[in-house]
Amino acid sequence: MKIGVIGAGTMGNGIAQVAAFSGHQVALQDVGEKPLEKGLEAIRASLRKIIDKTENADREALYESTLGRIRPVTDMAELGASDFLIEAVFEDFQTKRSVFQKLEEIAADQTPLASNTSSISITKLAAGLRPPERAIGMHFMNPVPLMKLVEIVRGIATSQAVFETTRQLAIGLGKTPVEVKDFPGFISNRVLMPMINEAIFALMEGVADPEAIDQVMKLGMNHPMGPLRLADLIGLDVCLNIMNVLYEGFKDTKYRPCPLLQKMVDAGWLGRKTGRGFYDYRDAAK
Ligand code: CAA
Repeated sequence: MKIGVIGAGTMGNGIAQVAAFSGHQVALQDVGEKPLEKGLEAIRASLRKIIDKTENADREALYESTLGRIRPVTDMAELGASDFLIEAVFEDFQTKRSVFQKLEEIAADQTPLASNTSSISITKLAAGLRPPERAIGMHFMNPVPLMKLVEIVRGIATSQAVFETTRQLAIGLGKTPVEVKDFPGFISNRVLMPMINEAIFALMEGVADPEAIDQVMKLGMNHPMGPLRLADLIGLDVCLNIMNVLYEGFKDTKYRPCPLLQKMVDAGWLGRKTGRGFYDYRDAAK
């Protein structure tokens, strides 16, 4: 399949990597050379780690052929011949909507348009598309090359054919697709984010320090990482955004974002990506 991926950030480059590794031809689009190079750099590093662990006798050939299937492009028009399009741009309704509108202009009518959104309504993103049946949610988890789940989100109009193509694609990428309906936060973030938010409330109230909160969840519940370290990995701005989507979507105060989360975002302490979140990563970056 020819797969177009829009956005070379953490999620986009991870999706491009697994698609190319599974044998698909991938066009990876971003607005400039710099984000593309950064995305490719992340792919090279991750791919190297994964291939070093494979039994394949010719690891170098596997590494080179995978990279060779990824074509970086800046012009979205280059994605016109894709059989399947996945957008993974900044988590903002207007941004994603305008990407879908551009893709609609350049892609064939039957080409599925998938969004990797973590919380924006697929139904709303699809409204006005000609036809809206082609839009679907394909929600990968971070880090994409390691996480098995793809949450497949049906919008109100998503066709069965688009759903089935998406499901088969996810299976072909070595992932396990799980179907969910289009409600705020889907399942993953409706369950995960209130847990993270509650951990932040506990921190704000002084119940325990970050290490202790994370240790309780790691050692007591067998989570691979504690909620605060996970929030730093996801990005605190993303966490806040998702809490607001839940809060607005359900109009229920149980989803109100913790004021400490808001404060940290206001400070620009967004987690690993800015070097500071609930933990300090500035030394690790040196
Ligand atoms: N590519 C390739 N290999 C990677 C990698 C990547 N991107 N990231 C880590 N690895 C490798 C490491 O090199 C390491 O390899 P070795 O064992 O050979 O040394 C191995 O994976 C394990 O990594 P670590 O030792 O650094 O740490 P870990 O054992 O804790 O595993 C983890 C890391 C897989 C991320 C694990 O901590 C985990 O599963 N955490 C939870 C992640 C999670 O919940 N993700 C979902 C977030 S929510 C989301 O994405 C959706 C949303 O909408 C917000």
